[in-house]
This record gives sequence, structure tokens and C-alpha cells, in this order.
Amino acid sequence: MTIECTNIRFLVNTRTESKLLRGDALSDLPIMENAYLRITDGIISDYGSMADFESDSSTSEAYDATGQTVMPAWCDSHTHIVFATSREDEFVDKIKGLSYAEIAAKGGGILNSATKLNETSEGDLFRSAKERLNEVIRMGTGAIEIKSGYGLSVEGELKMLRVIKKLKEISPIPVKATFLGAHSYPVEYKENHQAYIDLIIKQMLPAIAKEELADYIDAFCETGFFSPEETELICRAGMEYGLKAKIHANQLNLSGGVQTGVKLGALSVDHLETMDDDAIRILAESDTIGTLLPTAAYFLRMPFQPARKIIDAGCAVALASDYNPGSSPSGNMNQVVSMSCIQMRMLPEEAINAATINGAFAMDLQDELGSITIGKKANLIFTKPIPSIAYLPYAFGANHIDRVMINGEWF
Ligand code: NIG
Ligand code: FE
Repeated sequence: MTIECTNIRFLVNTRTESKLLRGDALSDLPIMENAYLRITDGIISDYGSMADFESDSSTSEAYDATGQTVMPAWCDSHTHIVFATSREDEFVDKIKGLSYAEIAAKGGGILNSATKLNETSEGDLFRSAKERLNEVIRMGTGAIEIKSGYGLSVEGELKMLRVIKKLKEISPIPVKATFLGAHSYPVEYKENHQAYIDLIIKQMLPAIAKEELADYIDAFCETGFFSPEETELICRAGMEYGLKAKIHANQLNLSGGVQTGVKLGALSVDHLETMDDDAIRILAESDTIGTLLPTAAYFLRMPFQPARKIIDAGCAVALASDYNPGSSPSGNMNQVVSMSCIQMRMLPEEAINAATINGAFAMDLQDELGSITIGKKANLIFTKPIPSIAYLPYAFGANHIDRVMINGEWF
């Protein structure tokens, strides 16, 4: 089936080839004004200026997009949407002034989510994660990465990854799975890190590989969690099974996570709230993508990622939601884009590129998604009338999306 969308006010991120954008190139967002877009069997088959439009109305369905902006759907390359329960009680404790350590002592944090997850059935986890997936698609997300990491036991991690595999099977949007067994040390391994690392390497990874449950391997490289050496050991073990590294780095401290990720040839290093010149330079000289998660910094009341310094140094930057119950209980990429402009001084063009084409690269989906390119999937956002592209992040908090198209169909 063919759909012809006509009179599009702004057709955003039109590209003939997909290139990872770094430094200055991030601010180049190609926009075609007064455009048409043709979609055939869920794939972008043609686009151009209305001046050159010739309708093929005998075989096509028409959609008049007068006043609308059409752009690639968001590519959210970092989420944890499989979890058992929300954690708003911790949120209130934090408001009252309890520290991270005090909350952890009360049984909070990642270990709290792990206890709950291990008590919850695969079916229940699947149902709640599917609801979250549908929720974010309605907000314009057209591809997503989902991590394990709230199991922290062989059975728990496998259960999470099986849920993600099922989501892949039923999801209308591409889903990538990341194994994050190294999210936190379970209490019983606090004094014996090597035993938990052995569990990851000798028991979890072979089982995950056998069932083909993961695309990537992740570790929380952070003071009090996994050291650079432990991160490297775990990621290299995953890489033996063909899993590329995508790691949590430099969230709370200068953890050495960026250096470790670059050394491993990681696809991305994510978070980056805490960066020094050395970490920025090493990232800029590498092929690793720096994925910024502003809503996590916001929710934890931390300084935002130094996006300006990171981009100006020449790094390739993506934006993602980090949707999870502990540090970013929102998967709204519109908000992520706004926040990156308002708080991190990213230009609207940079933010949109980082949340579309570079997000696609951060999931190895650049040949399928992330731009208006012939041959890519028609996963698209159709906005309500907006005066300019900068209006999207500027008028924050309002819903600018009129409709979302996934594989050429209205969602
Ligand atoms: O990406 N930083 C580590 N992991 C998650 C949060 C985990 C949690 O508190 O549940 C994150 O922010
Ligand atoms: Fe995360």
C-alpha cells in the first residue's frame, strides 16, 4: 500500500546517506519546506518539494498534512522499561532529605527493584513492560533499547531478557536487548565480587548466548558498583559471545568508565554527568558515542551533562530517556529533547539529530531509522501546527504530537 502525504510544512532530517554526527555536524539538520512524502508498504519510497509532486492517486491513499511538521520518530537508545514496581516512596524519602546510602540501607535502590522483580512472574513483567512500550510509542518513540539488570540472579536476568525477547517479537518498533547483569552487586556478593563476576561470566552469559537473548553487554562502571577493571572483564566476556559493549559511565563520579568504554571499542558510553577534559578528549578521539540522559540528571538533582563542552570537543552525541523506576521514571523523549536545549544549551537542531539519527547509530539501526531517507522505515512523528522546529523544545511540556506513524500505519 502507498500513502502520499502532501503539503508538509517542514519535513525534518532529510538525508541521502546516514552518517554518525559529531561536533559541528550535529547542528546541521536538513529541513525541506512545503514537501511531500510517499510511503510504500511501511517504507519511505520518495520525498521532495511540493513543486515537483505528481500524484499517483490511482494506487495511493492521500493524507493532507497541511501545516504539519513530519520528522523521524525518536530513537531511544537507553532504557530499563522492564521492572516490577515504581519507587515513588524513595522519591518522597529523597525529598525529605534522605541520602542515597540511607535509602539503600532501607532496602531501596537497584536492589529494591531486584527483590521485587525476582518475586514477579514473567507474564506480569511482560504485560507492564508492554504498556510502557506502547506509552512511549504514543509519545513518538520509533525504536528502543531495553536493558536487563533488575534480576541480578541467573533466573532473574534470564527472565528479564526473555521478556525483552517477547517484546521484540510483538513490538511494532525495533527493540534491542542489553544484558546488564553488572548493574549492582547483590547483597550476598558485597564482599565477594569475584564470585558474582564468575556467575555473570560462567552462568549468565552462556545461557543468554544459547537463547540469543542479548545484542549488547552493559555494566554500571561507578564508584561503589563496578570498577573499570571489573567492567572490562565482564564486557570482554560478553564480547566473546558477539555482544558489543554499551556502558553506564561517569554518572556519579569520574569513574574511568569513558576510558574503559573507549578501550573496549564500546558502541556507546552513557550518562556522562561527570566529565573532565581528559574524558572528553578521549571520547572525542574515539568512535564511541556519548549518550546523554538529561532526565536522569534532572530527577536526581545532579548537574546536567556538559553537552556544550562534549559537542564542541568533537564528540558524537546521542540523547536517550533512561526510562527506569529509580532515576528517570519517564520515557518521554520530547521532554529529553527540551531539557537538553534548556539546561544543556544544545541547539534544537543538535538535540533532534542526537535523538534521531545518532540514537539510531547507538542501536546499530542507522540503516533502518533515524532520518527521512528512501528505504528507511516510516516510523514518523506528525506534529500539530508549529511555527518552527525550535518551537518543539521551546514550548516544553505541551504535547506537540498530532499522530505517530509506525511502519506506515497510524499508531
Ligand atoms: O541508568 N545508573 C544506574 N542505573 C539506572 C538507575 C537504576 C535505578 O536506580 O534503578 C540509571 O540511572
Ligand atoms: Fe541507565
